[in-house]
Amino acid sequence: MGYEVSKALVTGGAGFVGVNYAKHLLDRGVEVVVYDNFGRGPGGKINCEWLSKHPNANKLEVVEGDVRDFESLKKAASGCDLILHAAAQVSVPLSMEEPKVDFEINVLGTFNVLEVARSLNTDPAVIYTSTNKVYGIPEYELVELETRYDFTGDLLGVDEKAQLKAEEPYGASKAVGDLYVKAYHNIYGLKTVSFRCSCMYGPRQWGVEEQGWVAWFCTAFALGYPITIFGNGKQVRDLLYISDVVEAFDLALDNIDKVAGLGINLGGGKENAVSLLEVIAYLEQLSGRKVDIQFTDWRPFDNKCYYTDITLVKKLLGWIPKVSWRDGVRMTYEWVKENLEVIEEVYRSKEGRSLRPMVEAAKKHG
Ligand SMILES: NC(=O)c1ccc[n+]([C@@H]2O[C@H](COP(=O)([O-])OP(=O)(O)OC[C@H]3O[C@@H](n4cnc5c(N)ncnc54)[C@H](O)[C@@H]3O)[C@@H](O)[C@H]2O)c1
Repeated sequence: MGYEVSKALVTGGAGFVGVNYAKHLLDRGVEVVVYDNFGRGPGGKINCEWLSKHPNANKLEVVEGDVRDFESLKKAASGCDLILHAAAQVSVPLSMEEPKVDFEINVLGTFNVLEVARSLNTDPAVIYTSTNKVYGIPEYELVELETRYDFTGDLLGVDEKAQLKAEEPYGASKAVGDLYVKAYHNIYGLKTVSFRCSCMYGPRQWGVEEQGWVAWFCTAFALGYPITIFGNGKQVRDLLYISDVVEAFDLALDNIDKVAGLGINLGGGKENAVSLLEVIAYLEQLSGRKVDIQFTDWRPFDNKCYYTDITLVKKLLGWIPKVSWRDGVRMTYEWVKENLEVIEEVYRSKEGRSLRPMVEAAKKHG
């Protein structure tokens, strides 16, 4: 890494993105503090147990804490020169059911992270995992094809010139975080960067119906569970495999002076844009089985087509997604198959199958 990191705080470090980056930092001999409220069901503990078996686990500290708790967060961040802020209320449907919880975790939580970063004497870099949902529904004309929607013409996708016009609470709370991250660079000179991520997926993701659909589909195929599709399944997303995410974070640190204060799209781009029906067809082929697919009403403000233009990140960081969506889905499915016993146990519990219990618990502790 060009930017020398000696100690990192990873909020949401028991979650999918956090644990994968924490592992990568340990590989590099960085001291890591995982900070998580373990709200996301049993998967978080399993992820941390896995991390604690790392050869450099003597450099790992796991702190159970909430990003809404400023003092506890500040204590955990002591001495850190990097913060990856990945903790969040992550579900769009649940943000509509419980907007206050979503607001408190995503807005106040991000504000706390920035205030903690500002108080440190280490001048830390801060990476914020924003989302493409900050752009809301793109105003481009669509065409409906046999298995998918697409933008008309030869558009590369939504770029950073698009307005931040989130249409639902999750998009809005993440957009507020995104703007604060920029403001703290502008005003206090914090080395912050915001990645507006598309649909990330890969091993150690505990996908459920409300969030993490690729991992959820892989799990459903491996376990033979039925899948509910909201809409007709032709909705398109660009998929971003986790190893590509990790690489982008490293490159951002290498080039922190170039990217500080920016909001940058990060996704699989047009080449890795795929519909739900297409992923299902591919999983049928991989698994040699069919699962029961039920179709129900569209979710409010669900994009029929979204993929992100990755021109800026290519230009600034020389980053391109290396893992194609087919390879990524195959590796995710293989991870599920290799861990089938433990995954089956997680999905048997109500906390493993849904994020609702997490939001309920967060409401009580807010
Ligand atoms: N997965 C995606 O496709 C995707 C896409 C765009 C953006 N993002 C963003 O990336 C980040 C990571 O997402 P993920 O997929 O790893 O989700 P995840 O749910 O696997 O991880 C989030 C972690 O945050 C923890 N957490 C939740 N509320 C907390 C709180 N109040 N205090 C402390 N910890 C808390 C959870 O327990 C969980 O371990 C999030 O900020 C999310 O908004 C994710």
